[in-house]
Amino acid sequence: MNSSTLIELTQQHGTPLYVYDGSIIRRQVKSLQDAFADVDMRIKYACKANTNLAILRLMRELGVEIDVVSMGEMQMALLAGYAPEQLTFTPSGVPFEEVREAVEAGAKINVDSLPLLEWFGQNYGDTQPCLIRLKPNVAAGGNAKIMTGHSDSKFGISVLLLDDIMNIVERYNLKIIGLHQHTGSDIKEADAFLQASEVIFKAAMRFPDLEIIDLGGGFKVSYKPGDTTTDMQRLGAEITRGFQDFCQSYGRELQLWFEPGKYLVSECGQLLVQATVIKEDPARDFVHVDSGLNHLIRPMMYGSYHHILNLSNPDGPARNYDVVGYICETDTFATDRELPEVRPGDILAFLNAGAYGFTMSSHYNARYRPAEVLVDEGEARLVRRHETLDDLLRTQLDLN
Ligand code: LLP
Repeated sequence: MNSSTLIELTQQHGTPLYVYDGSIIRRQVKSLQDAFADVDMRIKYACKANTNLAILRLMRELGVEIDVVSMGEMQMALLAGYAPEQLTFTPSGVPFEEVREAVEAGAKINVDSLPLLEWFGQNYGDTQPCLIRLKPNVAAGGNAKIMTGHSDSKFGISVLLLDDIMNIVERYNLKIIGLHQHTGSDIKEADAFLQASEVIFKAAMRFPDLEIIDLGGGFKVSYKPGDTTTDMQRLGAEITRGFQDFCQSYGRELQLWFEPGKYLVSECGQLLVQATVIKEDPARDFVHVDSGLNHLIRPMMYGSYHHILNLSNPDGPARNYDVVGYICETDTFATDRELPEVRPGDILAFLNAGAYGFTMSSHYNARYRPAEVLVDEGEARLVRRHETLDDLLRTQLDLN
């Protein structure tokens, strides 16, 4: 999308505004499908990255199924037209009643703890197949907060507890149709995926009824110019080889699942904001924008880099700024960042905002969350309106 289209969208819909480019989602889905063309690979989009219904519908149109982590996400996927059997529920220590609801809704379940496995056995025995989420004890990911497969992580059942798992499975005659692992997010080394897959393949030999190996998500996309990303071609070739060997030893062709979030939607999204105040301080120059950690929390929460463009003055002289929000917290988007000179009113674009942008937004400081536009096949559609006071008050009961 070029700058003038984006600026026009802000004139039409105001700022802050999330804009998504459907062609990038299409490209990413295809690249993953192409990399795994030689195996029965299924994509289960980790929709926590972005649950806008228009994006979920686009995924459905592209043949992508969904991984959900809550009943809320499940309802969204159903609303977007998914059939329950296209949904997998991957809980993290949720109340068991929530798991019951997901089973009753018809989703597949990734069991993530021994107590849940026991409960599953007591409640469903051999009547309800499930998958088991293993913790492979492999450390990988962009930062400590988003690593999920290492031995100290809360996620999944440690692969070291395989004997305990087998005891429960045998006691209740559970039908385990899949093994799952998710090592972390922002993983650039193909080796981490290979290492984790070897752990899962080895464990899988103990389960006779498997239909699915789910290797999770976590592929790294480029946030910073020059960033190393997951080499999808190499990963596809190497995992395909390992998976085919595994299927041969196992004696049957299985499905290979992936659950990417960022890979599918990070690069499609931009958060467009307006520069409000340029503060030339003796220590440094600040650009304040009409947004903050309430709309894009990744820089503040993980120290994540988001590339910033000045769409209104791309050829301006280079200056260095701290780009900061309007929230009463230190909500710094970027420190000492070189940008073409920013003037009040300029439109800035934060790139890679399609994943974990809007879905992690909040009403902090009683501020409204942004609108969202999807541009796809030549059409720009407002797919979420700007909020109003009513949205802030909707759940308050003491109005008068
Ligand atoms: N599968 C499971 C079980 C997950 O927990 C996650 C992410 C994914 C798949 C998708 O991971 P992805 O492909 O998007 O890396 N808010 C953080 C990322 C947290 C990811 C949580 N789980 C961020 O903005 O960096």
